[in-house]
Amino acid sequence: MKSNLYFTALMILMLISCKDDSNKDKIPLTSKQESISSDDERFRPFFHFTPEANWMNDPNGMFYLDGVWHLFFQYYPEGNQWGPMHWGHAVSTDLVNWQEEPIALSPDENGYIFSGSAVVDHDNTSGFGDGATPPVIAIFTYHNPEKENTGSTDVESQAIAYSTDQGRTWIKYDENPVLENPGILNFRDPKVIWDTMHKQWVMALAADDRTYFYGSQNLKEWEFLSEFGSDVGAHDGVWECPDLFPMTVEGTDTTKWVLLQNLNPGGPNGGSATQYFIGDFNGREFMLDKAFRDELNGREAVWLDQGMDNYATVTWDNAPEGRRVSLGWMSNWLYAQEVPTKKWRSSMTIARDLSLVATDEGYRLKTLPVKELDEFITDRIQKQDLELNGLTTLLTKNEMDLSSSVIDMELSGLTDASYVFLLSNEVGDTLRFGLVNTDTSIFIDRSKSGIIDFSGDFTSDITRAPLAAPIEKLSFKLVLDKTSMELFYNDGEEALTQIFFPHSPFTKFELQIPDSNRVRSSFEAALIQTDKKKNP
Ligand code: FRU
Repeated sequence: MKSNLYFTALMILMLISCKDDSNKDKIPLTSKQESISSDDERFRPFFHFTPEANWMNDPNGMFYLDGVWHLFFQYYPEGNQWGPMHWGHAVSTDLVNWQEEPIALSPDENGYIFSGSAVVDHDNTSGFGDGATPPVIAIFTYHNPEKENTGSTDVESQAIAYSTDQGRTWIKYDENPVLENPGILNFRDPKVIWDTMHKQWVMALAADDRTYFYGSQNLKEWEFLSEFGSDVGAHDGVWECPDLFPMTVEGTDTTKWVLLQNLNPGGPNGGSATQYFIGDFNGREFMLDKAFRDELNGREAVWLDQGMDNYATVTWDNAPEGRRVSLGWMSNWLYAQEVPTKKWRSSMTIARDLSLVATDEGYRLKTLPVKELDEFITDRIQKQDLELNGLTTLLTKNEMDLSSSVIDMELSGLTDASYVFLLSNEVGDTLRFGLVNTDTSIFIDRSKSGIIDFSGDFTSDITRAPLAAPIEKLSFKLVLDKTSMELFYNDGEEALTQIFFPHSPFTKFELQIPDSNRVRSSFEAALIQTDKKKNP
């Protein structure tokens, strides 16, 4: 029902946007529209992926092959709001510079091309290969708008397409769908892996607010294995975009299985977010780890990112060196279609390496920006062993471009107080974030960060991530790219991702601490320069 309303709302918005488009040559621009369109390039990130034009949401079909990282994405090429979904395509050799390629998959008589995954079929189990290069198989959801209009529940089914030229061109399988709808309205976003332990393909699929698992030998015939999630996790929305994969626990030989399960709405700070579960997979069922379940008793879910702008996170297939690299859509369904860019809408997060660690609270995922980002550092400034109190300017624009940088910060000697970082510009926009030890949380407050009036949901609350206890030391990595901040707390134990739209670039970075409190600090700020930054 929720989803029905959600998609009906999206359809209405789409119709409105189509209408806008058809009239756009005839209606003179109002001053507000003019300023919005001139903001397009001003707000476009330097080193995060955005489509050249029009609407984008979830990352899809990500795979790595022969030195190239492929990213597909939910794309509507004819408007800047959600519409009939295609798969856009981009490629990168470094996960930072992306080059957009022609559209990979377009809607057809079976419906729109919703989210899904892609796998490199090394052993040609599908038989689609030509014997020379391994075929790549995309597994996606057909969403049929005609069936949706009739009120029928079998709107979504799973289908495949294959590529024998390393993802450049795709042929849809002529016997689609490969998995029919069993009568579940929200039945989508297949994520497939080759399960080396049980020698089978495994598909994780979102089904209302459950994850379903299916198995296959050839990617064409699928057998239902099991269902997960009835008694655990956050359920205040529709489960979407799952991802199941094994990981080795850092510093051990132990393998655990990770299930990412995106949900919308119902995130910890409202709207869209990614929760995850750690457990074991026996080839049929995913069983939650006991310590993880016990720890969950006190709370709803464990979140991959507690900011408001990281959704639909999934990981790359076939990544080298045993890496598990993830990517999310850097927006939130609460306001994604209203953000103040017009030519293009939405960017992806920075690609992130996942690692699995054993903690006192059970197993946890850590996320940090991929190491490739460091290759784009062209300048660094370090300040060490500072003793701070009151309001201190840490960096100005003469020292560092705060629109394209990574800051590694350490503070110690913290007491029962608030530690507030401020990014600001000359016109008075201020983005505040930091630590409140009195209520044990990390927060981001974008209520005065610039253009905020496009949606009430954008600033309705301060974003908060609770901490287990007050802390004496704080360390974080902050990735800044014009209109986004990605905060990785304590070596990636927690992440908070948030977008913002300042009237002009931030030029000053300050820290406000109580006058009475002496805090020690060291930090490093690094300038990121990609091709786009060098030749804007
Ligand atoms: C998640 C999602 C998916 C769906 C796609 C449609 O953001 O709703 O569940 O496949 O977007 O664009």
